[in-house]
Amino acid sequence: MLTIRSSIFLFFLVLLLDVFGVVEALPQNRGRKGKGKNNAAARTPQQQAARIPQGVSQATDGSTILDMTARVNGVDLRFKISGPAAQFTTDSGVTGATQQAGAAGAMGLNVLLHGDGGQSFFDFPNQAVQGNLMGVVVLAPSEQLLWGQRTGGPSGLTRDDGAADAQAVNDLVQKVLPQVMAFNASNVFFTGVSGGSLMLSGFFVPAHMANFAGTGVMLMCGALPPQVDAVNAAAFAGNTKIHFQSTQQELASLQQSIPAAIQGYEQLAAGAGLAAAQINALQTVDNTPNGGHCAFDEQGFVSGIQLISDNFANIMQGGNGAVQGVNAQTVLTGVVGNENLQFGRGQ
Ligand SMILES: *[C@@H]1O[C@H](CO)[C@@H](O)[C@H](O)[C@H]1NC(C)=O
Repeated sequence: MLTIRSSIFLFFLVLLLDVFGVVEALPQNRGRKGKGKNNAAARTPQQQAARIPQGVSQATDGSTILDMTARVNGVDLRFKISGPAAQFTTDSGVTGATQQAGAAGAMGLNVLLHGDGGQSFFDFPNQAVQGNLMGVVVLAPSEQLLWGQRTGGPSGLTRDDGAADAQAVNDLVQKVLPQVMAFNASNVFFTGVSGGSLMLSGFFVPAHMANFAGTGVMLMCGALPPQVDAVNAAAFAGNTKIHFQSTQQELASLQQSIPAAIQGYEQLAAGAGLAAAQINALQTVDNTPNGGHCAFDEQGFVSGIQLISDNFANIMQGGNGAVQGVNAQTVLTGVVGNENLQFGRGQ
């Protein structure tokens, strides 16, 4: 009798622990106190993310999402890539795949880097094909899910591992993704959210954008002036679109760094020989939404990022930049003469 009771008790205990384990795997569940290295609270955000299974799922537009991890330059990079099943390589294991590894495809990519803590990796706001671009999100190889900082807690605008992470993203796109998906390597765009925008503007664009010239970079709620030397700036500074999107109640530190980034990139384009009107056609800025950090819809962080993601083609690929829910007639205001953005009270 006692034995049976103990077994039942143990069974329910295990069940209970398992349920807690699953709950703790959600990225937004943090801060539960506990002891012991196997306790959920002792897991880093990266370890919590690792508890969410990888594999194949369906995107909002019916595309196929593959969630997997590849070893790049000595680190594990987890990513999700979304597109028509037939565009995947047969090596990918996706049902319905038709492409050979390394084959060129007709569609391009929009590679998104999430903000501090990884929210947009889990949300995958660019998972639907848009403007002939298939979506990719990459998880930062970082304990705390910070782009440009592999260990330790948040340190604001300082990103000690920015150069290494930028190299890893470059190599993922150039070497790993062609093994998984057939895409047009001349049509690869990038999107940053907050900390991901710091990584792109501070490190990735100056060091690697010559490899992806002629496309565009969307910088949502964050930007840094180039933190590393620009490599072959003449190849990309005069033909690559950059849009800076912020809000009135932007974080105080970003109210400083975004205008500085605008000036830095304007100088890069001027150095490539562009006149003011040409720069204004390529580099644009908007911070009219009366919302907090990334709340471009004046409602919330997640919904604001989704709104701008849904308007990617409209902003980045030749549209008129009119975003429903944003009061400005267009978000495509040229940067020249608008470097000193006026903000409201910082968050
Ligand atoms: C690849 O993208 C480039 C840049 O958009 C375009 O000029 C080219 O025609 C595309 N190639 C194919 C095969 O679609």
